[in-house]
Amino acid sequence: MSSDMNTVHDWLNAHLTESVEELAQFLRIESVSTQPHHSRDVEKAALWLRNAFTAMGMSAELHPTGGHPIVLAEWRGAPPGAPTILIYAHYDVQPVEPLAEWTSPPFEPTVRDNRLYARGAADDKGQLWIHLMAIRAHMACHGALPVNVVILVEGEEEMGSKHLRPFIDAQCGRLAADCIVISDTPMFAEGIPSVLSSLRGMAYFEIRCQGPSSDLHSGQYGGAVRNPAATLSRILASLHGDDDTVAVRGFYDEVQNQAPADRARIRALPFDEELFKSEIGVTALAGEKDFEVLERLWKRPTCEVNGILSGYTGEGAKTVLPASAFAKVSFRLVPAQTPQEIERLLASHIAGLAADGVTTTVRMLHGGMPWSADVAGPAFDAAQRALTTAFGRAAVIAGSGGSIPIVRDLEDALGAPVLLIGFGLVGENAHAPNEWLSLNNFRLGAHAIAELFVELVQLPELAESHA
Ligand code: BES
Ligand code: MN
Ligand code: MN
Repeated sequence: MSSDMNTVHDWLNAHLTESVEELAQFLRIESVSTQPHHSRDVEKAALWLRNAFTAMGMSAELHPTGGHPIVLAEWRGAPPGAPTILIYAHYDVQPVEPLAEWTSPPFEPTVRDNRLYARGAADDKGQLWIHLMAIRAHMACHGALPVNVVILVEGEEEMGSKHLRPFIDAQCGRLAADCIVISDTPMFAEGIPSVLSSLRGMAYFEIRCQGPSSDLHSGQYGGAVRNPAATLSRILASLHGDDDTVAVRGFYDEVQNQAPADRARIRALPFDEELFKSEIGVTALAGEKDFEVLERLWKRPTCEVNGILSGYTGEGAKTVLPASAFAKVSFRLVPAQTPQEIERLLASHIAGLAADGVTTTVRMLHGGMPWSADVAGPAFDAAQRALTTAFGRAAVIAGSGGSIPIVRDLEDALGAPVLLIGFGLVGENAHAPNEWLSLNNFRLGAHAIAELFVELVQLPELAESHA
């Protein structure tokens, strides 16, 4: 670590409490992107963020879209020849229901056990804030950054990033970068910094079974009228085989085999199956028996039922034959599956289960491509040095089962390496009640990102000699 960096690290340590308080303001804004009654709040978060960027000396703009606005911030004052880093994040958050399960209210950020509890603390406002702290520390200590920085923050990640794709295509000149840095993922384990080498893709559907035009008395009509809840149940049950593989014909056709070296790398990670089970409260794990648990989570495609709704579910008994039933079903994809192909396969699978008297429709809500990369080269080396300085140990290369649909699009459009360096932790309750961010990771993450900017200064030359 250079002496130049000592002041930056001191600044970060000295401003920790203040930074957490500022992040708390951001977290108080209820920017739930998928719920229309929060659309004003989503816009409020975008405006708040633009002001935060401006206050720290960046130029920032709001770009309206057909949905929620995109916030774009830039600082291009680095010396000639310095690289440009693109930071991507999202300011939207997931719904908070079930509200009763929260120990402290989701939009009243609260510190307990050195964790900051709030919706969006880990996913992704808190992780975006880590980058902002690193930038502010450099600005405060040196009046400048060692690299040019472009920050792209969207408000629709949790709903599939529909409007970001055309924006990237239209603005790819302005977004051009030597390296893309994203913190929107957990680390492999506490104290073990991680760089990700893969994300799964996504194809998300709504399946609807429509029977009679209205709910019916199940005694007056049951026996002669097909029950859409039963039809839907058959469909859902047909999605998996007894061996837990996905039973949609053709589903595995495009799935690529993993390289033996990748499998070996995953097997070498310190994964504790018993701990994993006890943390989530299950007595046994499921899935494809020919693959290790981490491989099933990171490298294999899946099908999940996310929700089912039909008929009477209130207290007591009600005899009713429901008029309709629907379910939300998603598939996680791996290279070289595509959402379009999965949509085609699912449609023909369901067509094969047609039942007279019930009309079944399938609608794709959103889709995103899987991403995987060779984690090697000068950008990765720079990340390794930065993470080692901050965390006192080298990062592991991990995979992830989650999806950030835009990663693949960004990489394709900009032709730059992607560094997925997250500071969340397993157990952080992302998308669930009581989401939290480790304040220790918040601090170490800011040190790491501040170091990364310095480590990336040589990137353009190194990338040339590497090519
Ligand atoms: N930050 C997550 C992605 C993530 C979570 C990656 C955990 C790796 C591990 C992101 O905000 C997210 O939730 N993505 C959605 C996809 C989206 C299309 C709704 C997901 O993975 O379900
Ligand atoms: Mn996220
Ligand atoms: Mn998320």
